[in-house]
Amino acid sequence: MTPEPARLAVLLSGRGSNFLAIHAAIERGELPAEIVLVVSNLEDAPGLDKARELGLSAVAIPHQGIPRREHEQRVVAALRQAEAEWVCLAGYMRLLSPGLVGAFPQRIVNIHPSLLPAFPGLDAQGQALAHGVKVSGCTVHLVNEGLDSGPIVVQRTVPVLDEDSPHTLAARILEQEHQAYPEALRRLLTEPWRVEGRRLLFGPAPRG
Ligand code: GRF
Repeated sequence: MTPEPARLAVLLSGRGSNFLAIHAAIERGELPAEIVLVVSNLEDAPGLDKARELGLSAVAIPHQGIPRREHEQRVVAALRQAEAEWVCLAGYMRLLSPGLVGAFPQRIVNIHPSLLPAFPGLDAQGQALAHGVKVSGCTVHLVNEGLDSGPIVVQRTVPVLDEDSPHTLAARILEQEHQAYPEALRRLLTEPWRVEGRRLLFGPAPRG
């Protein structure tokens, strides 16, 4: 018997190219999942329009003028109503409070455009260039209560070239993001895994 596809929700604030990469992987049959809801904190996020064009359920839950707690309660209510099992952050430009993180323990995933723990937070590509690193990349990780600090699921690397601008580096990293996010979700959904301390380990737990 084929197991039911996992019920994913996507939270985004912008163009939504990672959301589209996840959607495309599902359509290709590479990810045993369905996207049950797309949520944005910004009404005019292009990613929301793309979700609607694809016929997905998509809602804006604006954060402006609303206390953080109340905004998050609305988001959690929408996720629960959609019966989401997993929450994929895909360019969601809001920090999650412990309340939201705790509502989906070890089931919230994020992608960040650097090799964490280097360069967390905003403008990771600019930070990488300014630091002079020769290699950068992207990280898919589980979300905990810290900033870009949860257990790492998948990382992919890219070279940093002398002539790079933040824009060219971001574009090179983004190509890898579109591979890494579906790969990380596929592994989380189809392989046994566990978290030991900071480490996310794939494979059956050792016996005894
Ligand atoms: C990506 O670079 C992602 O790593 C970061 O925000 C950006 C979102 O891009 N968290 P998109 O909206 O998925 O195109």
